[in-house]
Amino acid sequence: MRFSAGSLLLAGASLARAAHFDVDVGKGGLKFDPPTIKAALGDTITYHFFAKNHSVTQSSFDEPCQPLGGGFFSGYVPTDSPDIASRTTFTITVQEEKPIWVYCSQGDHCQKSMLQAINAPQTGNTFEAFVEKAKTAPASAAPADGLPNGGHRIVLVDVGKNGLTFEPSNIVELPRTRVRFNFHPKNHSVVQSTFDNPCQQLKGGFSSGHIPVAQSPSGVLFDVIVPDTQPLWFYCGQPNGNHCQSGMVGSINAPAQGEKTLAAFVAKAKAAPPPSTIPEFAPLGGIISVNGTIVHAFNGNVLPSQVSNDAPSTSSATSTQAANNGGAAATKSSPPASSQTLPAPGSDAGDYFTNKAGGGTPKHWGWAEKISDVATDFLQLHLRIEHLLSHLLWEAYLKLEEGGDWHGAYPQTIVDTIGAWTAQSVIHMATTAATLEHYEKKILESCKWKLPLGSVDEFLTAYNRINLAQIGGLIDISAQVAAADPFLVPIFLTQVGSKSRAAGVVNMMQNHMAAIAPREVAIPASLAWSFVLSNYVESCPVELTIEGQKEKKWPGLSVASFKSSGDAATGNSTVEVTLKYDAEKEQKGKDHFAAWIGPFGELEYTSVDKESKVAKVPEGWSGDVFIVVTNEAGTPLDRLEGVVVAGPQLAWL
Ligand SMILES: *[C@@H]1O[C@H](CO)[C@@H](O)[C@H](O)[C@H]1NC(C)=O
Ligand SMILES: *[C@@H]1O[C@H](CO)[C@@H](O)[C@H](O)[C@H]1NC(C)=O
Ligand SMILES: *[C@@H]1O[C@H](CO)[C@@H](O)[C@H](O)[C@H]1NC(C)=O
Ligand SMILES: *[C@@H]1O[C@H](CO)[C@@H](O)[C@H](O)[C@H]1NC(C)=O
Repeated sequence: MRFSAGSLLLAGASLARAAHFDVDVGKGGLKFDPPTIKAALGDTITYHFFAKNHSVTQSSFDEPCQPLGGGFFSGYVPTDSPDIASRTTFTITVQEEKPIWVYCSQGDHCQKSMLQAINAPQTGNTFEAFVEKAKTAPASAAPADGLPNGGHRIVLVDVGKNGLTFEPSNIVELPRTRVRFNFHPKNHSVVQSTFDNPCQQLKGGFSSGHIPVAQSPSGVLFDVIVPDTQPLWFYCGQPNGNHCQSGMVGSINAPAQGEKTLAAFVAKAKAAPPPSTIPEFAPLGGIISVNGTIVHAFNGNVLPSQVSNDAPSTSSATSTQAANNGGAAATKSSPPASSQTLPAPGSDAGDYFTNKAGGGTPKHWGWAEKISDVATDFLQLHLRIEHLLSHLLWEAYLKLEEGGDWHGAYPQTIVDTIGAWTAQSVIHMATTAATLEHYEKKILESCKWKLPLGSVDEFLTAYNRINLAQIGGLIDISAQVAAADPFLVPIFLTQVGSKSRAAGVVNMMQNHMAAIAPREVAIPASLAWSFVLSNYVESCPVELTIEGQKEKKWPGLSVASFKSSGDAATGNSTVEVTLKYDAEKEQKGKDHFAAWIGPFGELEYTSVDKESKVAKVPEGWSGDVFIVVTNEAGTPLDRLEGVVVAGPQLAWL
C-alpha cells in the first residue's frame, strides 16, 4: 500500500518538536547554569564543561550526593579553561516526567551546592530543599565503573580545519564516548589502521569514506564509539596529496610514553609508502550524519534514480541532497543499481521505503535501561540474516521491474508485493540496528552473500527458505530474551507477523496449499544461522557470538529423494526420505535420528538407517518442515543444539 506525501505530512504535523537546552557546568564557580529546567518528555539537554574536573551525575532527592542506581553519569571531564568549554559534552534525553535531580560528584562540589533539578516541584521537594539537604549530605560518590551512562558523552574532533590535521590529534577519552569527527574542506576521511601500518585500512576497522565538502563547518559528522581503553590509530586516506604521509593521522588513548606514542605513529606515517588505501564501501564502524540526518550510504546515492523517480513522495531528498553536497558519486545518470545502494544498517529507512512498507518511520516501543549480552548476540545474528534477505529481495525486485531481466515473469501486483517485502525487510533491519545503536553495541560488518539469482524460481525458493529460517530464529529469540529483555518481544513479534504473511504468499505462488502452509516453525536461532552459513554465505568478516559461544556451522543436510508407498489393505501410506549428509568422524558410530520440527512447537523423531540414510516421515506431517539429523531421540527443542549431527534443512512435505 502506498501513502501519499500529504498524509504523511499531516501525521507529522501533530507531533510537537522536542526542545533543546544547553547547560554550563562549572563556569564561573561551582554551579550548573541554569540550575533548574522545565523540560518535556523527549527534550534534550547538553552539558558543557569548564575547568576543572566536573561530572554530571543523577541522584535522588533523598540522597543528593549519591548516584541513583541506573541513573545517568557523564564520567569526569577534566579541562583547563575557565571560559572555553571542553570539546567533551554530555547529552541526555528527558525520559520521565518525574523530577530529575543532578549533582557534580567531584570532591565536595555537591555539598557546596553544585546541583541541578529538572522539573522540580514548586512545593514540597523543591530545588531549594534539595540544595539545603545537600549541604549536610555525606561524602559524594560516583558510579563505581566511572564510565558514562544514560546519555551520550561526545568529544568533537575537527578534521582538516587548519590544514592536514586532526584536532586534537590524540583523543584521551573514556570507553563508551562518541568520538565525533567534524569535517572541514577539502576531501578528507577517517580510517582506522594499526600502529604498524599507518596508511592502510585495518580489516574490520572504522572508515568514514572520502568526504568532500566545500563549506566550513560542513554539517557532516562521523561518529565512532570508543570500545575500551586500548589505543586506536587512524589516518586520512586521501591519496591525492598523500595526506597520511604528510602526517594527517591521529589516535584515541595513545600511551603518553613508550614506543607506541602518537609522535612515533606520526613518524611511521611520514615514512609509509604511498598510496594510502581505504575500504571500498562506507561508512563502516561508525555513523555518518549530515546536518542531523543519518546518511545511508555515502559512496553512492541511497536509492537508484529509477526507483526514486517512481516513488510517490519526495523520496530520499535528504540523502540525495547529502550525496550531492558531499560530492558522492551517484545522480540521475547513476550506474545500474545494486544491493550496495540499500540503506546501511543503523540508518533511517528513508521515505521511499517507509511508503512502500505501508507505514511511517519506525518508532521504538520504548527502551529499557539496559540490554542483556544474550539479546545483543541475537540482534547481531538477526541483523546478519535480515541483511541477506533485503539484498536478495532488492536484487530480485530490480530484475522484475521494467527493464530488468525478469520483467514480465510475474504480474505487476506481485512485483509491487516483492517491493513491499524489500521495504519491510529494510525496516526490520533498521529497527534491529537502531536497537544496537541505542545501546552503543557493535553493528558488525556484513557478510558477502551467495545470492541465488539464476532464475526467478531459484530466487523465490531461496527467499522462502531464508525467510522461514529467520521466522524460526525470531520465535526462538523472542523466547530467549523474554525474561531479561521483554521490551524486545514486540519488535520481534511484529517482524514475525509480516514475514509469515510473505511466506503465505510465496506458498501460493509455488502452488502449495496456502491455508496450511504459512505456519511458523520455531528453530534454535543458532541452527537458523548455521542453515544460512551452509547455504548462502561466501564469507563473513567476523564470526558471531551466540549466547556467549562462538557460532557453529553444522554439516550440511539435503533431501535426496522422497518415496511414498500405500498400503491398500489399511489405506495407510508411508513417506520415506533419503537424506544426504556427511557426519563428522566421531558421529559415524552413533545411531542417527531425524528430528522433524513442525509448527506450533511440534517435534518428532524417526530413526535414520545408517547405510541407506533413509528415514520415515512422521505420519500426518505436511507443509514446510525443518529436518535435523541428531545422535539422540527425544531431546526437546531447547536442547537440540547439543545433539545435532547435520542440518537443519527445510523440506516441503
Ligand atoms: C578527575 O577527577 C576524577 C575523580 O576525582 C579523578 O579520578 C581523575 O583522575 C581526575 N582527572 C584528572 C585529569 O585530574
Ligand atoms: C548544513 O546546513 C548548513 C546551514 O543550513 C548549510 O549551509 C550546509 O550546506 C548544510 N550541509 C550539507 C552538507 O547539506
Ligand atoms: C574525493 O577523493 C577521492 C579519492 O581521491 C576521489 O575519488 C573523489 O573523486 C574525490 N571527490 C571529489 C568530489 O573531489
Ligand atoms: C494405519 O492407520 C491406522 C489408523 O489411522 C492405525 O491405527 C494403524 O496403526 C496404521 N497401520 C500401520 C501399519 O501403520
